[in-house]
Amino acid sequence: MKITHSLYRRISIVLLAVFLVMAVLLAWLFEQSSQSIQDETSQRLHLKLAEHIVHDLSIDEDGSFNKESIKKAFHMMMVLGPSIELYVVDAQGKLLAYDAPEEKIKLRHINIAPIQQFTRGEPELPLLGDDPRSSTRMKIFSAASIQHKDKMIGYLYIIIGGENYDSISTALQLSKAWQIGLFGMGAALLFLLAASLLLFYALTKPLRVLTLEITAFEQSGFKQLPASNKQQNAHSATTHKTERSINSSEVSQLSSSFHHMAQQIVELLERLEKLDKVRKEFLAYVSHDLRTPLTGTTAYLETLALKFDSLEDSEKLDFIAKSQANCLRLDSMINELFELARLDNNQVSLNSQSFSIEDSLSDLYASLEGIAQKKHIQLKVQCELENSSVNGDIAKLERVIQNLVENAIHYTPDNGTVTISANATPTNPTGSIRIAISDTGQGISEEDLPYIFEPYYRSKNALEPYQKGTGLGLAICQRLLALHEIQLNVDSTLHQGTCFFFDIAVEAEI
Ligand SMILES: Nc1ncnc2c1ncn2[C@@H]1O[C@H](COP(=O)(O)OP(=O)(O)OP(=O)(O)O)[C@@H](O)[C@H]1O
Ligand SMILES: [Mg+2]
Repeated sequence: MKITHSLYRRISIVLLAVFLVMAVLLAWLFEQSSQSIQDETSQRLHLKLAEHIVHDLSIDEDGSFNKESIKKAFHMMMVLGPSIELYVVDAQGKLLAYDAPEEKIKLRHINIAPIQQFTRGEPELPLLGDDPRSSTRMKIFSAASIQHKDKMIGYLYIIIGGENYDSISTALQLSKAWQIGLFGMGAALLFLLAASLLLFYALTKPLRVLTLEITAFEQSGFKQLPASNKQQNAHSATTHKTERSINSSEVSQLSSSFHHMAQQIVELLERLEKLDKVRKEFLAYVSHDLRTPLTGTTAYLETLALKFDSLEDSEKLDFIAKSQANCLRLDSMINELFELARLDNNQVSLNSQSFSIEDSLSDLYASLEGIAQKKHIQLKVQCELENSSVNGDIAKLERVIQNLVENAIHYTPDNGTVTISANATPTNPTGSIRIAISDTGQGISEEDLPYIFEPYYRSKNALEPYQKGTGLGLAICQRLLALHEIQLNVDSTLHQGTCFFFDIAVEAEI
């Protein structure tokens, strides 16, 4: 929240600064351009003024200026036209005559170049010249050369908009037109600023929402999906057009990526937690399961040692047989653990050869029939194929099928049916064979299905009635098939039955 707030605040400050600079710049430009237009208009109006007045200047016969009479004439003219100031300058720009108190004159020598440019003909207006009453200020002017007996003896230099004019003009600068112009400009800028701030507020809103969601998600320990994740699909159908256009922005893409990521994190965490629980349960279970046969065997051996002479032969044989069974069970458990570890470490290689599926299935049937009969389970083999041969590690593939059939027998209550079938794969009838092991047993709940191939995982419904098992069988089967690049699949309905199946490529007709 802090981040987006400060982001919006930062954007607002930058915008405000930009608008302030723009306002100052625009006001300056406005002032400059209106000044320039005003100058040009005034100078154009007074273009011939000096030329008209120059003939009335009283010049002595010797070509010198009669300063007193000029001063009087200038005074007269400045009374009639208070916005002008008149000066007579020589050819180098030195002031010769004027009507002004001495202390007001700051420049006694002015730049002659603009005057020469002006008197030469059509100058580019506005043309500025030195103002004798200021050492820095430049002013528009009118000028004409003063001739005496066909000789140029100086210039009449008229400042337009003199000191009087300046003071009145400054007072009027904020006159009506100015005020309206500035007010209009200010209002437009303010409106633009408000509109931009609103727009940024709307644009950063999804970002603020996203930040809130990320923070909430983080605070929930990455376990609680953001609320909008659930609403997202329903909402997208009814989203308003404008919102849709904002939603299609990068922020919206970011938001949907985050929601996707959050969903995956939640699922992954749930999965990890569940697997961790399974692993812990397994440790407790395995240590118990390894200890049970071990304790049993130790007890039998201790009794044998202690009462060897007093025990009947039949009792001794029974103790030895039970110890042997316990050792076999321990052996198979430890073997399964090692086998899985070897498979996970890629230490198992394939010994491939071509073999007949039919032959394999009938061998398996022969070895498994006994176990099925013990549970009064009907074991069936359905093989519609004739002389189909496949390529693979026969021992490992038979181990997979045997494991799946043992599971099916194990998790099917008495008097059920287990079927091993080998038929053409429906989606690829000529290219591969589908081997399926189906039963009419417990079934696996939907909740358990995604986990049954995980090592040590045992589903709840199977756990209660059938205590035996380490939860490694399917993990080993899956890895053995993966070595052949074959995927092990499962279909199951709770309390109805389960079907494990995989497809194996046909090699050739024998
Ligand atoms: N045919 C089946 N019907 C119902 N549940 C099954 C079936 N096959 C497997 N399962 C479920 O999948 C779990 C995992 O099976 P897996 O063969 O990996 O382990 P296990 O049979 O429990 O132990 P073991 O490692 O000794 O085989 C079983 O505990 C059981 O819950
Ligand atoms: Mg098993």
